[in-house]
Amino acid sequence: MNNGSHSNGHHPNGNRDGGSTDNVHLNIPDRTEETMYGVSQIGIHDLVPQMGYREYWYPAIEVRKLGRKPRRVKLLGDELVMFRGKDGKVGALKDRCPHRGAFLSFGRCEFEGTISCPYHGYTFDETGKCVAAITEGPDSPMVGKLKARAYPTAVLGGVAYVWMGQTDPVPLEEDLPSEFFDSKYAVHVYSKVWPMNWAVSIEQNEDAHFSWIHRFRVRRLFNLEAFRQIPAYWSGMNVVGETDSTMGIKPTVNAAQQAYYPGLGKKWPQHVWWRFRKFPVPGINVKSFSGKPYRSEHYLPSITRVDMGNRMYNRWAVPVDENHTMMFTYDIRKGGSLWDRIFAKLCFHTVVRYWQVKGVNELEDLPVQLYTRMDPKEPQKLGRNDRAIIHWRRKMPLKSRDAQRVWGMSERALVDADAVREEREGLVEVGDDD
Ligand code: FES
Ligand SMILES: [Fe+2]
Repeated sequence: MNNGSHSNGHHPNGNRDGGSTDNVHLNIPDRTEETMYGVSQIGIHDLVPQMGYREYWYPAIEVRKLGRKPRRVKLLGDELVMFRGKDGKVGALKDRCPHRGAFLSFGRCEFEGTISCPYHGYTFDETGKCVAAITEGPDSPMVGKLKARAYPTAVLGGVAYVWMGQTDPVPLEEDLPSEFFDSKYAVHVYSKVWPMNWAVSIEQNEDAHFSWIHRFRVRRLFNLEAFRQIPAYWSGMNVVGETDSTMGIKPTVNAAQQAYYPGLGKKWPQHVWWRFRKFPVPGINVKSFSGKPYRSEHYLPSITRVDMGNRMYNRWAVPVDENHTMMFTYDIRKGGSLWDRIFAKLCFHTVVRYWQVKGVNELEDLPVQLYTRMDPKEPQKLGRNDRAIIHWRRKMPLKSRDAQRVWGMSERALVDADAVREEREGLVEVGDDD
């Protein structure tokens, strides 16, 4: 048996006493540094911030989840308390009382539009202003002066959004998909914590795992997905459309559903005879929902979109901490008429929530990508499968609002990813531009 290590002192061709080791199936792989770690690395958090870009709006909570009790919400590593404010507004305060540091999330919402601290009952509105310091008395000078740290919020379509940036918030329209503001569309949302880093969940939308992870499953018989002709491989993904905040992605080829692999001496998959349903490619064999010439798309800071032809599958990965992501799945369909809206609601609560989000994402993708099963910090070897990922890791960060507003990089860095990394790691001085 071989444990892959030379350090046990055994000679590879014989044992210590010179006896034969013919019955030993020795396997000593090449373990040079370069084989193990590669010479060039573009790690997942090379330029992409581990806890997410900050100068953006993020969905934080579905408003229906805010009741009489305040809710504790962790966003981008920050601990917040959220509660209903006045006139349909939502409050998001740092989850620490400015009086003596009690966690406000253990307090209560006794007076409309406010939160009261569990310790001395100091009470704050959604702007963070202290409106009553109950145990210090009605004439407390704290009132109107004491402030809890408040984050800007906005409510749209039953979801409360929080601005996480240190600079001034942009209009909501700049960060949310345009369909959210358009009554021609019906938008439904479902949110759940996924135990994985947010960036891993973005990258799965631009790689070529489909034919492997989503191959045959018994449950796919019920919605006839088992009968789809899935291309065996995609030869990598390419960036085919780009704006200041988005990128469109398309496979290099849509191969046949079965291919011969010389190193295996076999075809994979071995049997495909039962697959008679066409694989839908919007714009080719089914109509495209967005009218764009690609199926997958990213929006900064952390939105992935898949054009399903009759609807847009839109997912927003909100970093909670290093190993957890609050995944907001938005189902977008046409919603112009009453019938459209009823149909959209029905589809969302059946097909989308159970078949897609649970059946596909949570039962097929997620088990591979959990932080307990995949390590995004391990050095990686990227190939043509990962072309779009390289782009997302190295080009999109330069376009991010964080780069523009707070990273404070030189002009040189804004066009050169290596320069950004060097500047952020303090390897070069950032002065006035060269
Ligand atoms: S610690 Fe919050 S009121 Fe005193
Ligand atoms: Fe997947």
